[in-house]
Amino acid sequence: MTVATQEELTLEQKAVLDEILAENRDKSGATMLVLTLTQERLGYVSPAMQQYLSQEMRVPLSHIYGVLTFYSFFRMAPIGQHKINVCLGTACYVRGGPSLIEKYQQVLGIKVGETTEDQQFTLEVCRCVGACSQAPVVMIDDDIIGRMKPQNVAKTLRKYK
Ligand code: FES
Repeated sequence: MTVATQEELTLEQKAVLDEILAENRDKSGATMLVLTLTQERLGYVSPAMQQYLSQEMRVPLSHIYGVLTFYSFFRMAPIGQHKINVCLGTACYVRGGPSLIEKYQQVLGIKVGETTEDQQFTLEVCRCVGACSQAPVVMIDDDIIGRMKPQNVAKTLRKYK
């Protein structure tokens, strides 16, 4: 199950957006700048935030959505308490990275890029984290877990609950 993305804009979020807009809306490249600062300050750019920024900047919502989907570092939903990054660099890919992704998706009930309903875990894919000799590698928060096996996925996750 995924976290609902139809959340309302909170007063705190609106205050942050207003501050960002006041300082940056007239600068060149304002859309990219405002979206980047929004993500930095609030952690993501929700549909409600996109709508508000579109209105306030008089930029079509489709343009804002286009920028957010073009650059993979933007997030449109809040991140979970723990971030799982399954490495799909070459070494990890050939040594079982894809089967780890499948197992995480199955155990957590989410797809890559999604967050569990209890907001505990966000599942993502990354490229080489510099630990190829331990492939396949998974990063959970700042922990690097090497030689990961699908049968150990559930057990490892229990440590982070
Ligand atoms: S390819 Fe995964 S750590 Fe290098």
